[in-house]
Amino acid sequence: MTLGRRIGIGLIGFGWMGQAHSRSYRNIPVYFPEAGIVPELVAVADTVPERLDMATDNFGFASSTASWHDLLDRSDIDVIDITAPTAMHREIAEAVAAAGKHVFCEKPVGDNPAATAAIEKAARDAGVVSGCGYNYRWAPMVQYARALIEGGRLGELTHYRGRFFSMYGRDRLGVLSWRFMQEHSQFGSLADIMSHAIDMAHFLVGPINRVVATREIFIRERPLPKPGKGTHYDRGAPEDPMGQVTNEDYVGALVEFANGVRGTLEADRSIFGPQSQMAFELNGSRGAASWDHEKLNQLQLYLPEEQPTDGFVEVLSGGDYFHQGNFVPGGGNSIGYEDLKTIEALEFLRAVLGERESNPSFDAAIDVANVMDAMVRSWDSEKWEDVRDLRL
Ligand SMILES: NC(=O)c1ccc[n+]([C@@H]2O[C@H](COP(=O)([O-])OP(=O)(O)OC[C@H]3O[C@@H](n4cnc5c(N)ncnc54)[C@H](O)[C@@H]3O)[C@@H](O)[C@H]2O)c1
Repeated sequence: MTLGRRIGIGLIGFGWMGQAHSRSYRNIPVYFPEAGIVPELVAVADTVPERLDMATDNFGFASSTASWHDLLDRSDIDVIDITAPTAMHREIAEAVAAAGKHVFCEKPVGDNPAATAAIEKAARDAGVVSGCGYNYRWAPMVQYARALIEGGRLGELTHYRGRFFSMYGRDRLGVLSWRFMQEHSQFGSLADIMSHAIDMAHFLVGPINRVVATREIFIRERPLPKPGKGTHYDRGAPEDPMGQVTNEDYVGALVEFANGVRGTLEADRSIFGPQSQMAFELNGSRGAASWDHEKLNQLQLYLPEEQPTDGFVEVLSGGDYFHQGNFVPGGGNSIGYEDLKTIEALEFLRAVLGERESNPSFDAAIDVANVMDAMVRSWDSEKWEDVRDLRL
């Protein structure tokens, strides 16, 4: 397929992420005019009519449909973006790849490791460009931390602690959305947020060799959602009918990296205190760094050979750091979560146009799936488990 700078977008699932991705595509020409990329919102699919109305009326999609199959044969669509619930990803992504469309799929791509492997193979066999939503990599301060690691400024890495502690499930009256039910999402925090923590560990430190993991469900029943509602920020009432939570709130693991680094990874969706603490602490033989998405414009750095005083210092992000100058000029001016999504969309479309390798692609997703698979084997066996490559 020869693409001009116009790229036709079809999007499946117009909930939280579908809306965020749509805003991101619209943002590209205004925040990154020099890229010369014009994403066109051609068609959107969702099963909720009000969401389709909003997509066309407010977001500027040219057309809408209740059936995602309608997007597959359209010659004016180059890229299909999958932001439907995770359990639907495999069927959709395989059909999208077979239709020869480039495909972006929200993390963790498949709802279980085997599904991610099948999706990765489908895209590889079809020769389409793939991308996935490990957006925290794109934070300018995370990019800076990685550059420091690659430049040897932290020395030889020794310890890594990664975590994603989110508040979204801490309210006992938070509704039983698809995220909490095995029939719609085989795994809970493992797939939803631990996947982000694993990808960040890969991005900064490298592959993980083996893990020992544990899990728990802290809130065992929740109110059933009303029809057309049911994203994970909706709230029910005490008198509502209740349903069972059937996948894990918490997963924690000790991990050993291939390069000898030792660490921990934890994820919880029902914890009090942290709000959206997607964070890491990293120690090397010459220094240390830590970052937390709740303060995404700040990096804590300890470089004793370079600093006049001992202890961590705070580095403030700003226009001089990775892509941040496209959003705000000068130091200390902040960007936020959805700006990372705009960077993600830009970099994916640049990959579609052949200007860069797509990364994170489904290849990065299967690396994450391999570690998820080892965590599941370990919480069953209650022993250390090696990470195996599930690529087909
Ligand atoms: N990268 C991130 O930070 C991040 C954050 C949140 C969610 N996600 C991922 O994004 C995906 C979607 O999550 P969300 O929070 O946006 O969910 P959501 O529930 O808010 O939205 C899902 C949408 O899909 C629609 N849908 C359901 N069945 C459909 C069908 N048959 N055809 C078309 N549309 C259908 C729903 O009506 C809803 O509008 C998940 O895979 C999740 O893991 C990623």
